[in-house]
Amino acid sequence: MRDRPAWLYDETKQIGTDYEDLSQIRGYDQRMAKIRDVDREVAEVLDLIELSPEATVLELGCGTGEFPIAAAGRCRKVIAADVSLPMLAFARDKASLRLREAGRATDLQRIEFVEGGFLTYRHEGEPLDAVVTAFALHHLPDFWKQVALIRIAGMMKEGGRLFIRDVVYSFDPAEYEIFFDRYLLRMAEIGGEGTPQDMVIHIRDEHSTIGWIMERMIERAGFSIEAADYRAGFIATYLCLKRG
Ligand SMILES: C[S@@+](CC[C@H](N)C(=O)[O-])C[C@H]1O[C@@H](n2cnc3c(N)ncnc32)[C@H](O)[C@@H]1O
Repeated sequence: MRDRPAWLYDETKQIGTDYEDLSQIRGYDQRMAKIRDVDREVAEVLDLIELSPEATVLELGCGTGEFPIAAAGRCRKVIAADVSLPMLAFARDKASLRLREAGRATDLQRIEFVEGGFLTYRHEGEPLDAVVTAFALHHLPDFWKQVALIRIAGMMKEGGRLFIRDVVYSFDPAEYEIFFDRYLLRMAEIGGEGTPQDMVIHIRDEHSTIGWIMERMIERAGFSIEAADYRAGFIATYLCLKRG
């Protein structure tokens, strides 16, 4: 295998929220439950990517493992990759507990937790049927997002499905001050204490991009966009097909 070149963006370096910090990891699911309906999100992704029982799906940036836990009941193999080793350990323990409690212990064998990220995960074996990533791609600056998308396309079958959910800006950038002030007020109402501070860190330190840039990058990487949805000026989802 080729050594990692010195010029490669260091995706293990934590920017914004530190996902190697155990207190962040342990509180993550509770924090998300205040501002997201994660069960509904995961069910929506599973409907859209249409996994067959023989399929292999990769999630990049699996976090605490909600998607792999659900997907393991639907397909042959789920590869759950993340750059944070403590996050992977948490996800593995959670999957084990949750699946045993649900009487689905055999599903655990279908999940492979892997240390690796958008720029470093190397896929071996049959090309992937589907790739999913949620709230993780914004950890890379735009040039490296483009590289990540090209790498993902290179791992997938023709016609395979890529689902992306992320913080992507679709408001008018000329209105950024009004938008961010209003957004933070709204987040304080919904998420309570701590949420606006997470968002402040996101806006200031992480690499959310603009919707039209994201769409061009996805298409240039070799995908056609079947559906693009923008919500609240801040959240986007893309269902994409790998072109031949
Ligand atoms: C905000 S969490 C999202 C977790 C989960 N997908 C969700 O929907 O809640 C972001 C995750 O992406 C991971 N991450 C950050 N940079 C990454 C990279 N370059 N490649 C893969 N994962 C990355 C972090 O360690 C963290 O677990």
